[in-house]
Formats: sequence, C-alpha cells, structure tokens
Amino acid sequence: MKVDKIITKKLRMNITVVDHPLIQHKLTLMRRTDTSIRTFRELVNEIAMLLGYEVTRDLALTTKEIQTPLEKMDAPIIAGKKLCFVSILRAGNGLLDGLLRLMPSARVGHVGLYRDPETLIAVEYYYKVPSDIGERLTIVVDPMLATANSAIAAVDRLKDGGAKKMKFVCLLAAPEGVAAFNEAHPDVDLYTAAVDRQLNDHGYILPGLGDAGDRIYGTR
Ligand code: PRP
Ligand code: URA
Repeated sequence: MKVDKIITKKLRMNITVVDHPLIQHKLTLMRRTDTSIRTFRELVNEIAMLLGYEVTRDLALTTKEIQTPLEKMDAPIIAGKKLCFVSILRAGNGLLDGLLRLMPSARVGHVGLYRDPETLIAVEYYYKVPSDIGERLTIVVDPMLATANSAIAAVDRLKDGGAKKMKFVCLLAAPEGVAAFNEAHPDVDLYTAAVDRQLNDHGYILPGLGDAGDRIYGTR
C-alpha cells in the first residue's frame, strides 16, 4: 500500500511509506542486533532495489520503434536523460549499490557528510556530481533520516549546484526528521520503508537499527 500523506502530530507530511511486506520483513532482519555485517549489507541492497521500484513508478515513458522477431512495434522506453543518484557518504553507498543494479546506466554523484557527534550538525568533506545534474531527475539516497540535518544540507548543496527535480530515499526516518525535511524542502518527495517512534538524546532513531554506516562497513 502506498501512503501519500500521513498525519503525525497534526502535521501534513510529504512522505511515501513503502510498506510492501518483503521490505518490512527485510527491515526487521536489519534491525536485529544479531544480524551479521554480510547479511546487513545484502539486505540494504535488496531493499534498495524494492524501494527503487516504487520511487521510479512515475518515470515518464515514450516509445521507440523496434524490430521483434515477428514485426515492428512502437515499444515503451523511459523518456529523457538517464537519472542521477546522489549518495550521501558513506552509508548512502549501501542503498546506491542496490539502485545501480536496478538502473545500471544511471549517473552518480557523491556528497560526503558526517554528523558532528556533539552538535549533530552535518559537516561536508566531499562533493562531486555530474555537471548536467539540473537536466536529470536526481534521487538522493541515505539509509537514515534522523534529525534530517544531513539530508537538508545535501539537498541545499545540490540545489546550489543546479539540481532541480529531486527525490529523497531512506530506509528509516524519525518523525522529527520528516517534519524538518518537509519544512526545509517541501518540493522534494520523501520515500522511506518506515517512520520510527522518535530520536534519542544523541540523535539516534528509536527503535531504529543503530549506526547504519558502522553496520554496513563493520567499523564499530
Ligand atoms: C548517518 C546517516 C546519515 C546521518 C543521519 O551518517 O547515514 O547521513 O547519520 O543523521 P541526521 O539525519 O541526524 O543528519 P553519519 O553522520 O553517521 O556518517 P557515516 O555515513 O559516514 O557513518
Ligand atoms: N545515523 C544512523 O546511522 N543511525 C541513526 O539512528 C541516526 C543517525
């Protein structure tokens, strides 16, 4: 079921919760502390492909004449330029890998950000995106939307760099992050597999899945 609008604390939110049973089952496996790094990584990849299916549902189609073994036909193909994924380093790369399996010709940009553990402010350390990003649908990916400081900073930076039509895809969001992101970027559609209960005092999502980067790369 696709939920276009959910009401949280009387706020209308622009968010699509992709609650397909396969995604929910895999997300539960990811949350468990006893899930290995290898399995966690495989699951991020698999969920990314399933989320990618939903996020690209409204891509415009055109037709092209092709020759089948029997006759010619006007067959549907995706219109316009290849889309661009932007991964927020480093945990975004987990989602990126799965999305690239679905759309191997997509262009890719990277925004390097880390959260200052004290202030929770996003600090940029890398930025590289295709020069024609403004002509492409841009799908920004990061598994976790907690305070949304990182997501807001990345989208700010991409808008400054010329990106126009953007979507943001995460695995897990906190209600606080959804509200902050919607307020900062109401024009950017947000997709997630789940909205959890709340943030803790250190800006971690509860119940959550822990530190996504550490769990993908085994760096704790
Ligand atoms: C994590 C996550 C997001 C950010 C979310 O990255 O991947 O980028 O935190 O938190 P926020 O919504 O409060 O900004 P982190 O800063 O831990 O860096 P990493 O990906 O390098 O582990
Ligand atoms: N970043 C993570 O990786 N996990 C959280 O719960 C919050 C921010």
